Formats: sequence, structure tokens, C-alpha cells
Amino acid sequence: MNRLDGKVALISGAARGIGGETARLMVESGANVVIGDVLDERGRETARTLGDAALYLRLDVTSEADWQAVIAATLDRFGKLDILVNNAGLFLGKDIEAASRAEWERLSSVNLTGVFLGTKLSLPALRDAAQQSACGSVIVNLASTAGLVGSTQDPLYSMTKGGVTLFTKSAALEFARKGYRIRVNSAHPGTIDTDMGDQVLVTGARNLGTNDIEVARRQVIDRLPIGRMGTSNDIAKGIVFLASDDAAFMTGSALVVDGGITAQ
Ligand SMILES: NC(=O)c1ccc[n+]([C@@H]2O[C@H](COP(=O)([O-])OP(=O)(O)OC[C@H]3O[C@@H](n4cnc5c(N)ncnc54)[C@H](O)[C@@H]3O)[C@@H](O)[C@H]2O)c1
Repeated sequence: MNRLDGKVALISGAARGIGGETARLMVESGANVVIGDVLDERGRETARTLGDAALYLRLDVTSEADWQAVIAATLDRFGKLDILVNNAGLFLGKDIEAASRAEWERLSSVNLTGVFLGTKLSLPALRDAAQQSACGSVIVNLASTAGLVGSTQDPLYSMTKGGVTLFTKSAALEFARKGYRIRVNSAHPGTIDTDMGDQVLVTGARNLGTNDIEVARRQVIDRLPIGRMGTSNDIAKGIVFLASDDAAFMTGSALVVDGGITAQ
């Protein structure tokens, strides 16, 4: 189950966190993986621990030139591209009154423009690979529970992730209509223990009037039906499933991995 033998994946924002763990799990599942990020040192280190099956390349998802160079280098090194994971993302942690236009523009250029560019510029390679593959190629977009319900902490982040949720469904429909054989699905993590998860807790603590993120962590956990925060591994398993042929009948769907928070 969930094998990716012989597949080639490109994961944006994979130097650390959910993307880093997805890279590790994909390599373990038999794939070759390109890790794209702006954190060069951390990205190289993540790739080094994964051996020859992984390659780090600098990729600022807001740059068309970076996407073009990374896709060309992926084809050069591994010969094709079967799987794109649009994972790079930013969290702002400010409410509407505090956020500036410049902050919105930075946030939306990574969380929205980055997903559009990745999808558009990977498309020719994904289409080529789909022709050689029994179940076609795959895109997985990292949205969030904040792309399904309103965020109590970060309305601008929620706006970007809501956009990713419906872009995913629209891209799935467009590629199906055109017969490209590319499945497109989104993953929706709840609060996950990563650097971004810490940022969420810092914001939560501030909104509770304290500097102690343990107070915010306790509040998050108390509200979670499963009774713990998620890990990168919880999310990576879902992404690997969506990327594998076991999800061959899924496109335009939203995989919620949130410890039950949006069930209530
Ligand atoms: N951690 C959570 O609680 C949580 C919850 C829901 C959704 N998500 C989503 O999951 C994804 C991964 O989040 P994470 O928790 O691993 O966060 P993280 O901050 O640990 O990792 C995000 C990565 O994206 C990279 N990145 C940022 N800007 C970039 C750019 N312009 N180009 C390329 N890379 C860039 C960062 O350098 C970092 O390595 C994000 O899209 C995030 O919105 C996270």
C-alpha cells in the first residue's frame, strides 16, 4: 500500500516541517524526491540525510524563473516528474486590523501565487509522465483546516487556504476535462507540531493575553477530539497516500487530517 516505486516527486518548502517529513516518507516509499526551498542550508541537510534519492534545489515559489530552473534540473537528474506537492506556505498570525497590505501581498504571493505557478509550470512535465503511467500524475496542495472553516487567529491566512481549497477542485476539473490524467487533491492539516505550528501557538498565546505558548498548546489540545496535536508524520502519510496509486479514484477531493477539530 502507498508505494511510490519509480516515481519522481517535487516538494516545495520541504527543507523542514511537513514537507521535510513528506520527502523522507516518499523516499522510504520508493520515490526520488526533489526538495525545493529558500532555506538552503537546512534543505541541503534534509536532502543529505536521504541519500542519492533526494536532491535539494533552491526554489522560491513566487519566482517563475526558479520553478523553470528546478523543473529542468529535476528532469535532468531523474528523467521525469510524476508528483508535485505544493507545500511551501507562510502563516501571518495577525488579525485584519493589525495586518498591512505589504504583509498580505507577501502572504498571498507564497500561499496563492506560488501554488498557481507551481501547477502551471509543472504541467508539461506532469502531462508527459502521465502518458507513461498506469494511473497518471498527481498534484497535492497543502491547504489547511483554515481553508475549510474560518480561522480564529489569522483571517488572511484563511483567505489564502480557502483559495487553495477551491483552486484544487477547479484544477482537478480542468485537467480531467482536458484528458491530462493528472489528479489534483488537497490536504488539510489541523494544528501540527512544526515551526509554523509554534507560530500558531505564539499567536494563540498572545490572543489569550500571555507569552506562555504552553497555555495556548493546552487550549488547542483540550479542543481536539483526538487529544493531541498532530505531527508532520500524520500529515505526510496522508500526502503519500494521495500521491500513490491507492488514491487512483480521488481527484478534486480534500483529505482532512485534523484530529477531529472540524468535525464539531
Ligand atoms: N503546521 C501547521 O499547523 C499547519 C496547519 C495547516 C496547514 N499547514 C500548511 O502546511 C504547509 C507546510 O507547513 P509547515 O507546518 O511544515 O511549516 P514550516 O514553516 O515548518 O515549513 C514551511 C516551509 O516552506 C518554506 N517556504 C516559505 N516561503 C517559501 C518560498 N517563497 N519558497 C519556497 N519555500 C518557502 C519555508 O522555508 C519552510 O521550509 C504550509 O502550506 C502550511 O500552510 C500547516
